[in-house]
Amino acid sequence: MTTKKILVTGGAGYIGSHTCVALLQAGYEVLVLDNFSNSKAESLRRVETISGKKVPLVQADVRDREALRDVFRQHSIAGVIHFAGLKAVGESVAEPLKYYDNNVSGSVALAQVMAEFGVQVLVFSSSATVYGDPAQLPIREDFPLSATNPYGGSKLMVEQIYGDLAASDATWQIALLRYFNPVGAHSSGTIGEDPNGLPNNLMPFVSQVAVGRREFLNVWGDDYATIDGTGVRDYIHVMDLAEGHVRALAWLQNQSGAHVFNLGTGRGFSVLEMVKAFELASNKPVPYRISPRRPGDVAAVYADASKAERELGWKAVRDINAMCQDAWHWQKQNPVGYPD
Ligand code: UD1
Repeated sequence: MTTKKILVTGGAGYIGSHTCVALLQAGYEVLVLDNFSNSKAESLRRVETISGKKVPLVQADVRDREALRDVFRQHSIAGVIHFAGLKAVGESVAEPLKYYDNNVSGSVALAQVMAEFGVQVLVFSSSATVYGDPAQLPIREDFPLSATNPYGGSKLMVEQIYGDLAASDATWQIALLRYFNPVGAHSSGTIGEDPNGLPNNLMPFVSQVAVGRREFLNVWGDDYATIDGTGVRDYIHVMDLAEGHVRALAWLQNQSGAHVFNLGTGRGFSVLEMVKAFELASNKPVPYRISPRRPGDVAAVYADASKAERELGWKAVRDINAMCQDAWHWQKQNPVGYPD
């Protein structure tokens, strides 16, 4: 790489902001493109404080080809990490076109403009949701793929599109990273997950109960075939995930083609195990009620994370206590998230 400036689309968001910290720590420069549809610029000011480095920002939509061209004209970009996209499963069912437009059209526009400027190093933010309801555990990268909702469909389509692109032209260097369940926050407690409205995901909901913003947690089902009947997931600390992106980017320098990696810990924890760990870390009670299963949920999902370890030399190192402590640290210091 002649320059080490990385364009991070969606860099103000939860995973994006933590990845900016990891990139800056590893000696990269970053440039963030974000439309703030589900994030705030304050997260980037805090990334600057953590890292002691500047985070230049372009406020634009990833579907806006002219804005993208301006970025590539004005900056010497070595590679792109592409987070920008929508991620709420329920909303994707109600508004599928919004999801396909943002997530699929946005990813196509980005790759087209990258190609125009000869920038062909790309890390894409995919999801374990592409495995649908897995027939076997732990989940390996070569397992069958399926989509159970438009959000998952959009991730699957972009993987397909980027795979076809890499097959058409060997100068592309693409990593498709399938995240399991990202949780936690930077250990400073200054950046973290700041969902709009009622959280869909477990850990932000648990944090809001612990901090007193919500009365109790609904546990969606306790009759699954798991250790205690509640759903099992592979929770991964967001800083481990962020560091996985940095490793993938470095690894891509000597690769060609599109490469898929699970980013998880390889271990599953139940909802009730997570609640207990959070209570311990926060020293706050997390009252809960058992409620009916949430439609679309599956009993258990966890990764075989060995490919990333073997090929990227990366593995998650932070345990669930660190995940809960750091999530709590963020929530306690920022009970209503980032200020407006
Ligand atoms: C969800 C999405 C997935 C997406 C991911 C992104 C669904 C069905 N799946 O994954 O497509 O990639 O978020 O972050 O929405 N739980 C409760 N009470 C709650 C919330 C969750 O009991 O209030 C349980 C769930 O039933 C599940 C576990 O906690 O067993 C984790 O849920 P969640 O954090 O929403 O993640 P996923 O469903 O795994």
